[in-house]
Amino acid sequence: MKFMLSLKPGQKLKSDIKIKEPKTAQEYKEYFKLRWKILREPWAQPKGSEKDNKENESYHKIAVINNKIVGCGRGHFNSGKQAQIRYMAIHEKFRRSGIATKLLDSLERTLIDNGAEEIILKSRSSAISLYLNNGYKIFKKGDLLFGEIEHFWMKKKIKKSPIRNSV
Ligand SMILES: CC(C)(COP(=O)(O)OP(=O)(O)OC[C@H]1O[C@@H](n2cnc3c(N)ncnc32)[C@H](O)[C@@H]1OP(=O)(O)O)[C@@H](O)C(=O)NCCC(=O)NCCS
Repeated sequence: MKFMLSLKPGQKLKSDIKIKEPKTAQEYKEYFKLRWKILREPWAQPKGSEKDNKENESYHKIAVINNKIVGCGRGHFNSGKQAQIRYMAIHEKFRRSGIATKLLDSLERTLIDNGAEEIILKSRSSAISLYLNNGYKIFKKGDLLFGEIEHFWMKKKIKKSPIRNSV
């Protein structure tokens, strides 16, 4: 995936960034490709390994700049009250400018609107500070993915508020 635009760490985005659900077949294709490129290809995992059996019942979000998908994330429910976020990935040229934080916020709002009272996720050790900054706490050590990526289970309890702003 080639982008004319890229960012230096901490540089603010001048272009408009949109967080939205993928809708078209082309958007879904690009979305899964980005997931695979970032989360699977570097560990020589086959195409298809970027998906699981919950895709059809999940909430999908993409971050779009100039019509290109530069980031993604997914949420699903494990039970009526517990949701889980997976597959957060930002194109390397667009990191450290707050895109993952925006995606996380949008996913959380959707999950909360659909009844989540607790959100869990399994963070790679390199992503822990992103989630700590957003109110998650580590509760146990996870498995080693592909024999080398350390993971930590994290969770966030959702505070019930009588009045919520709409998304
Ligand atoms: C982890 C990842 C999704 C973060 O995306 P991002 O858009 O760069 O994150 P943000 O810009 O919203 O970061 C928000 C904060 O999280 C923390 N953070 C994010 N990436 C970090 C890193 N590599 N090292 C240390 N802190 C980091 C920082 O505190 C950052 O704020 P700051 O830039 O003002 O210091 C991205 O680096 C990525 O796709 N990594 C590869 C795939 C991956 O590991 N996915 C997560 C699976 S659990």
